[in-house]
Amino acid sequence: SSSHPDIALPRLIAHRGLAAHAPENTLAAVRAAHEAGCRWVELDVQLLGDGTPVIWHDATLSRCSDGNGRLAALDLAAARRLDVGSWFGDAFRGERMATLNEMLELLLERNMGVNMELKVTGKRSGTELAEAVVPRLLEALPAERLILSSFDRLALQHARSLADASLLPIGVLTESVPHKWRFRCESLDAFSIHTDWTRLTAHRANEIKAAGYRLLCYTPNDPAAFANRWAWGVDSAISDDPTLFDSIAPPPGE
Ligand code: G3P
Ligand code: MG
Repeated sequence: SSSHPDIALPRLIAHRGLAAHAPENTLAAVRAAHEAGCRWVELDVQLLGDGTPVIWHDATLSRCSDGNGRLAALDLAAARRLDVGSWFGDAFRGERMATLNEMLELLLERNMGVNMELKVTGKRSGTELAEAVVPRLLEALPAERLILSSFDRLALQHARSLADASLLPIGVLTESVPHKWRFRCESLDAFSIHTDWTRLTAHRANEIKAAGYRLLCYTPNDPAAFANRWAWGVDSAISDDPTLFDSIAPPPGE
């Protein structure tokens, strides 16, 4: 609809920061993305046990830190004690979990855009997550540099109740685009659909584009395999390594 901001989306968005080159969802990963020429990143946000929003993907700690157990069992002091860089490489030893506030500061400092994904993993509802995160995003970022996405319907519904489409671009995240995609997008006044690139069909891509929505795909990491999706009308690819695509992706908006 015409009330959406005119977002200059790049062809490539760095997934979880620049996950192929740095520990995902960290400040170091976003710096790496920026230094690699990326102007937008995708990041996951959820809440610690004490309610602090942090940038983290998993429900648990073991894959991406030197800790164990559940993220929701930590308060901020405990989360800060974790090393979230060493698992990826010695160069990142001592990296600390980023709070949403710290990450927003970095994004502002570097003039970057963000696709922030509300990641509902535990007992907390999407509503509660949106309630904690959306006001901070609205305060920090202009609508031209923000897309809020989620797989969680309640999270997006609550987000929309907090701000209209001119202030908060919403992306509907789906593993495969459902038959009722049009209804879901309309009821959320959505800006975009974000889907698994391996499950998208040319037919569905055409329908989505004809209806005026932006179409984003996660997480292609093989530019040759992805190449024909640009012709299907895909606007942006959310990749672990955008640097691989640079010579292949068409200019934005074409
Ligand atoms: O937002 C796109 C993508 O990040 C969704 O899946 O599991 O990588 O967060 P996941
Ligand atoms: Mg994500």
